[in-house]
Amino acid sequence: MKQYEHLFGLFIAHLEVYKKALEGKTPKELYEPENYILDLGGKRLRPLLALIACDLFGKKPEAALNSALCVELFHNFSLMHDDILDEAPLRRNKETVHKKWNTNIAILSGDVMLVKAFSVLENYSDAEFKLQSGLLTKTAVQVCEGQQLDMNFESLSTGQAGGNLVTVSEYLDMITKKTAVLLACSLQMGAINAGAGRADRENIYEFGKHLGIAFQLMDDMLDTFSENADSFGKQIGGDIIAGKKTFLLLKTLELVDETKKNELNKFLQLNKENSEEKIKGVKAIFEEFDVKKHCVAKADEHTQIAITHLNKTSAPEDKKEHLKQFAFTLLNRQI
Ligand code: IPE
Ligand code: IPE
Ligand code: MG
Ligand code: MG
Ligand code: MG
Repeated sequence: MKQYEHLFGLFIAHLEVYKKALEGKTPKELYEPENYILDLGGKRLRPLLALIACDLFGKKPEAALNSALCVELFHNFSLMHDDILDEAPLRRNKETVHKKWNTNIAILSGDVMLVKAFSVLENYSDAEFKLQSGLLTKTAVQVCEGQQLDMNFESLSTGQAGGNLVTVSEYLDMITKKTAVLLACSLQMGAINAGAGRADRENIYEFGKHLGIAFQLMDDMLDTFSENADSFGKQIGGDIIAGKKTFLLLKTLELVDETKKNELNKFLQLNKENSEEKIKGVKAIFEEFDVKKHCVAKADEHTQIAITHLNKTSAPEDKKEHLKQFAFTLLNRQI
């Protein structure tokens, strides 16, 4: 994603200063994992969105650097804990923190990052601090709700009688909470830093929310279908192993007949020892029903809704166009 290279550079320089202050801090078990996960990189999407929104509404992006740091810290905290919940072995192509150290370390290191996400907002004026910490609090609660729903859905069996146990609309609500609201929050923080009015702040939030829904739909697709495991950086098929109720699975359940559904359930019920067979079997049925196509269509639907909100903002047309291009690149990503 080359479009906003100068903003990316600004953020990386700011992050370096933050990381420098972590060096040598004790107890090292608390701070080394933070440094480790921040060093693994990632797309830096959320900080970029904060800087983009600030620029979009007419202020120098530098004004949003601490908001950008805040959302990146929050994001990395959520990943550290998410990888425990999902029992994930890989993050950004490296061992996850709870595997490299242990679960207790990943819990506590995550906690400290969460607290620091709030504390970097103290660099703003009282009015900006109040708006942003209120927004982050609301977002953080929703992320926890989304994560809990995700786990609740995981433990539901698709083999029971009585049709689909999770509807597409319940799934969309879950991903809105676990993923989309943080993208929305990042953009709204940037808008706050720029002093944007209420209507602009709300429209950019809605843009981010629908972009986030599309982003998670595509991420779920890559979890199964990514052809470049190294750049995707996560275990391919992890969602199938964990029994995640993704759009791919829910849509397939809508399309199959009873016989096919039984075949699918047979694979879904395979345990961890048979992960490879499970992934292969489920993936083949996804392919047979071309659910990838449906998933892309759903993501496109939300991208379009996102764009209608962006269009409603008072930002200059050329900057809106730039952001739209960025959104399309993001959703076509392979990593
Ligand atoms: C991963 O987010 C978690 C999801 C919401 C899918 P990213 O794909 O933005 O992760 P990094 O920061 O680039 O690694
Ligand atoms: C991530 O959802 C949501 C949060 C981290 C809050 P996933 O569990 O799908 O993300 P990945 O696939 O591990 O990055
Ligand atoms: Mg998860
Ligand atoms: Mg996960
Ligand atoms: Mg995932």
